[in-house]
Amino acid sequence: MRDTLERIRQEAMEQLASPDADLEQIRIRYLGKKGELTAVLRGMGKLTAEERPVIGQLANEVRADIEAAIAAQGEKAAAAALEKKLATERIDVTMPGRAPAIGQRHPLAIVQRDMEEIFIGMGFQIAEGPEVEYDYYNFQALNIPENHPARDTQDTFYITENILLRSQTSPVQVRVMEKQRPPIRVISPGRVYRSDAVDATHSPLFHQMEGLVVDKGITMGDLKGMLELFAKQMFGEETRIRFRPHHFPFTEPSAEVDVSCFACGGKGCRLCKGEGWIEILGAGMVHPNVLRNCNVDPEEYSGFAFGMGIERVTMLKYHIDDMRLLYENDVRFLSQF
Ligand code: DAH
Repeated sequence: MRDTLERIRQEAMEQLASPDADLEQIRIRYLGKKGELTAVLRGMGKLTAEERPVIGQLANEVRADIEAAIAAQGEKAAAAALEKKLATERIDVTMPGRAPAIGQRHPLAIVQRDMEEIFIGMGFQIAEGPEVEYDYYNFQALNIPENHPARDTQDTFYITENILLRSQTSPVQVRVMEKQRPPIRVISPGRVYRSDAVDATHSPLFHQMEGLVVDKGITMGDLKGMLELFAKQMFGEETRIRFRPHHFPFTEPSAEVDVSCFACGGKGCRLCKGEGWIEILGAGMVHPNVLRNCNVDPEEYSGFAFGMGIERVTMLKYHIDDMRLLYENDVRFLSQF
């Protein structure tokens, strides 16, 4: 029995000496309920009274030795694991950080903001109106009665007979004048809709910016001065403007307004198609009928209005030759502005 105990001690110690010893396995094998040392202790009943305490003491020693060795090995393994973890998980605080990807504003939004800033600087306020609009505001109140040929120039999406998707931002003029007495000085940027097929210069959804000024004694001179200031700030200090006679039902007189080509300075180039001038907006003096429709007395007040396409200004400014680029949201395109 003494030999068996010595053998158990030696075997266990040998196994525990190996660096990748399975400690739990060894514990079960020697010290477990069905383990080898336990088996020896069970056989102690057969020993004589003299032998029993001697063997008992030896058995206890062997158990204590094995337990101590297991504990020591366990600590070693834990320390080694910690070493390894510290080595592999070390943080290099001098490494450059991961830069979060930052988005940027869409070119249409950039241009819209630029335009807003310029007009706000001249004392304008921003007004908004609904995109789903009554026929009354989009057409009738703007001096475009039913069957008026001007309705054909704006292929309108109708929702019901008298509700539509606004085809211009001009209805906001009417909504503002209904709510607010002069003096009025507002711009109104927003989406408009027309039943146009998509191509390089058309889209069923695009953006306009409307302007309206109503007060006592407003003249075409005010309109020209204000637009000139706008053009210079938007396209550069050397920019000039010119008015060409035109017709809009809601203004009288009406004009189309050109800016001198900011790419060639007016000599003629690809951007202005050799003209030296680029059309950017429609404008005019608010028609007395429109004022009257909004309960503004045309004998007392006068005003001017203008409307321009934000896509058009954006494309001119950034030399974008296809409008579809503005809607495809290709990040490689959008990140250039
Ligand atoms: N609403 C016109 C359009 O969509 C643009 C316009 C022209 C607006 C003249 C105006 C204006 O306010 O006075 O074609």
